[in-house]
This record gives sequence, C-alpha cells and structure tokens, in this order.
Amino acid sequence: MVKVIKNGDRLYKSRFIKLVFASFAFAAIASTNAQAVELTPREAYTFGQICAYCHARAETSAPVIGDTEEWQRRSADGFEVLVTNTILGVGNMPPLGTCGYCTEDEIRNLVIVMSGLDPAAANQGVKP
Ligand code: HEC
Repeated sequence: MVKVIKNGDRLYKSRFIKLVFASFAFAAIASTNAQAVELTPREAYTFGQICAYCHARAETSAPVIGDTEEWQRRSADGFEVLVTNTILGVGNMPPLGTCGYCTEDEIRNLVIVMSGLDPAAANQGVKP
C-alpha cells in the first residue's frame, strides 16, 4: 500500500516537472518573438499555463501564437484594441483571457509577446 502511494507521488512529480519545462519553453519561444518586452516570472507562468491553453491550439478558434499574418490582420484597428478586447473579453474568449489575477499591464505585456507585434509600429487605426 505504501509502495503504491510512493509510485503515485513520483508520477505526480514527473508530471509537474514536465509542466514547468513546458511553460519555460513557451516563455522562451515568446521572448524571441518580441524582444521589446521581457515577461516577469508571473507573466511567463500565466502565458504558459493560461493563455497557451487556448492560443497554442488552432482547434480552439483562438489566434495561434506565432501566426504573424493573423495577428497583423487582427491589429488593423490598432494594437490597443487587442488589449481592450482581451480585458473585456471578445467572441469565445472570456474577460482577461480567464486570468482573474492579471493586471492591465500584465495583459498588455502578454498580448505584446503573444502577438509578436510592436505596439509602437503596429497599425494605429489604419486598415490595410
Ligand atoms: C478559453 C480559451 C482562451 C484563453 C484561456 C485565452 N484566450 Fe485569448 N482568445 C481566445 C479566442 C477563442 C479568441 C478569438 C476571439 C474572437 O475573435 O472571436 C481569443 C482572442 C485573443 C486576442 C485577440 C483579440 C482581438 O481583438 O482580436 C488576444 C490579444 C488574446 N486572445 C489574448 C489572450 C491572453 C493574453 C490570454 C491569457 C491571459 C488569453 N488570450 C487567454 C481564447 C482564449
């Protein structure tokens, strides 16, 4: 009986380690997309554990991380619209992208890294 519990514990630990590695991998990919912003550890954790849950999988209908063309299309009304839509929720995405503890600044940084867009250079209300 004790042995079974020990095995279960080891399994849990190895899953946890894999999860931690997965979130660091996402953070690393993300930081090469947008050099302008460096995520705090809390933001990197949020990115890997919350945002990527939908944004790493096209089946969720969320714009996928790294799909530059899609992100440029979505920023046609200006970068800040993306931030506002994330905070308020849009389409199938609940408010704050379900990150209940995220501040507005954190959401903004996450959107910069997720989209790979430079807020200063992204379209500012000019349709392509
Ligand atoms: C439950 C799934 C889910 C989670 C979790 C999620 N998103 Fe989304 N997100 C979506 C979907 C679906 C869309 C597309 C909405 C639409 O255009 O109909 C979207 C769209 C977006 C957009 C584009 C908005 C626009 O105006 O086109 C941004 C930016 C975004 N998400 C950021 C984030 C961030 C940052 C997080 C983490 C804090 C996050 N999302 C978490 C599902 C999710």
